[in-house]
Amino acid sequence: MKTKIGIIGAGNVGATTAHIALMRDLGDIYLLDIAADMAKGKAIDLNQSKFLMNSDAKVEGGDDYSKINECDIIVVTAGLARKPGMTRDDLLFKNFEIIKDISLKIKQSQKSPIVIVVSNPLDVMAYTAWKVTGFPRNRVLGMAGVLDTYRFYHFLQNKFEVPSRYVESMILGSHGDTMVPLISHTKVAGKDLSSRVSQEEITALSDNARNGGAEIVALLKTGSAYYAPAASVIRMLESIVLGRKGTIPCSVLAEGEYGYKDLFLGLPVTLGSSGLQKIIELKMTEAEKKQLDDSAASIKEQINKIKDKI
Ligand code: LAC
Repeated sequence: MKTKIGIIGAGNVGATTAHIALMRDLGDIYLLDIAADMAKGKAIDLNQSKFLMNSDAKVEGGDDYSKINECDIIVVTAGLARKPGMTRDDLLFKNFEIIKDISLKIKQSQKSPIVIVVSNPLDVMAYTAWKVTGFPRNRVLGMAGVLDTYRFYHFLQNKFEVPSRYVESMILGSHGDTMVPLISHTKVAGKDLSSRVSQEEITALSDNARNGGAEIVALLKTGSAYYAPAASVIRMLESIVLGRKGTIPCSVLAEGEYGYKDLFLGLPVTLGSSGLQKIIELKMTEAEKKQLDDSAASIKEQINKIKDKI
């Protein structure tokens, strides 16, 4: 049986995710938007693009939640994007109402779908979706760490001018200003980053990744990044649909791992056909753990702002 992928929000992130998923033949897609005709139009255009890659997947568009509730995986990209000068947290209250409403609809599904949340502020929106749907934690995931890590790869690759497969790293914690690049797990061409450059340079590279989203928002002026966010959703879909192996950072509900409870934050995980398989407990330096604690505390603070509205 072909996997059915529902994408809520046919804006740039949703439509680009649909496009890459279609090219990779990951499953049939339903692209939903409150602007139903826009979703239908994009679906037609997408279907007409698939012959290039010999894909057999189909895309349908519209505003029909009964179609979403036939899906095995639901990607939630709906919500407002940042405007120049805004932080992801400025979106908190507006997007909370949108995600709550969507989650109540997804809750009706009889299919036990896996939900991937992409809307910002990411960790709080993933928490909202988990709490409102009442789904077990393996079926609610937030996309953020893959994106932040890809951004870090980009800056590392530019600095060292090596092929992309020569960089490895992982960014954990919140998808926000307190995200934590794990320098102790960062290597370029097999060598520890800290043995190759100074602490100042490491800080500058980390800041580049941290500000990577805002840099793009400032340039676009009307919206936020979408090619790399969509590619990051695809990386998660590949593990779920195709069984692609590897440890990747995703925002997940912590139930005691790393000492955290009752919050979503970016942790190293493996994904599979039932969603979250395992949270991997990596060794990190004391300084990194302290940064992760601070990041968790900042997410908790945000969650507390919406908790009684759920
Ligand atoms: C970004 C948005 C999607 O980081 O959060 O570009």
